[in-house]
Amino acid sequence: METVLLATRNRHKVEEIRAILGAGLRYRLLTDWPDAPSLAETGRTFHDNARLKVLQVLDWLETWETRGGLPGLAGVTWVLADDSGLEVDALGGAPGVDSARFAALDTGAPGNSADADNNAKLLRLLVGVPVGQRRARFRCVLALGRWPSEARAPELYCFEGICEGRIGLEPRGSGGFGYDPLFFPDGFDRTFAELGETVKNRISHRARALAALAAWWRARHGTEAVAGQP
Ligand code: IMP
Repeated sequence: METVLLATRNRHKVEEIRAILGAGLRYRLLTDWPDAPSLAETGRTFHDNARLKVLQVLDWLETWETRGGLPGLAGVTWVLADDSGLEVDALGGAPGVDSARFAALDTGAPGNSADADNNAKLLRLLVGVPVGQRRARFRCVLALGRWPSEARAPELYCFEGICEGRIGLEPRGSGGFGYDPLFFPDGFDRTFAELGETVKNRISHRARALAALAAWWRARHGTEAVAGQP
């Protein structure tokens, strides 16, 4: 069984990834190593940022190799990163890659913003926009990098998933994270935060990107490997 190092500190994402990919893999978390780098997200697209996160982790592991290898890394053969966010048509695709720090864009505060602040800003910008014009989608890009890697040409694969929907008029529900209380996926009259993790993990952008990854994995490793619902 192979071991994947999940390159995210977002507890919710870790839970979703583990729940969807299932028991066919072992997982390690970046938080298992307190000195792991914080990952810069300076790209202009989700694709750029997902790749960037994996490359930063591979670089970090590489620097440890010169010191005899990172303690506790034994068995890790892949690094997996996710970059994701919300695109709202009426806002020209915003918040997009700035989803996590949407509110802080106005204040210049460092780091990510509280979910409640991001949601409040989104609702403020959409005041007066009618229901029919509140189309939006969550997009997720996963980048999977092989470890150990060839420093100049890392073996890296990307998988994308999209979940179409619309933005509600007020927050609803208490599950999930981020923009979940505002997002009605197509075909449902409840938000991600109301639908609960079983439904979300079946239809979400992350579930779809993970299904693409799982299909690729099965083709490469055989049918016994990871779950990932289509
Ligand atoms: P990242 O960690 O840089 O990829 O930022 C992702 C941000 O997009 C999160 O902080 C959330 O604000 C938002 N986001 C991504 N996926 C989801 C989701 O499944 N539900 C709600 N918000 C999400």
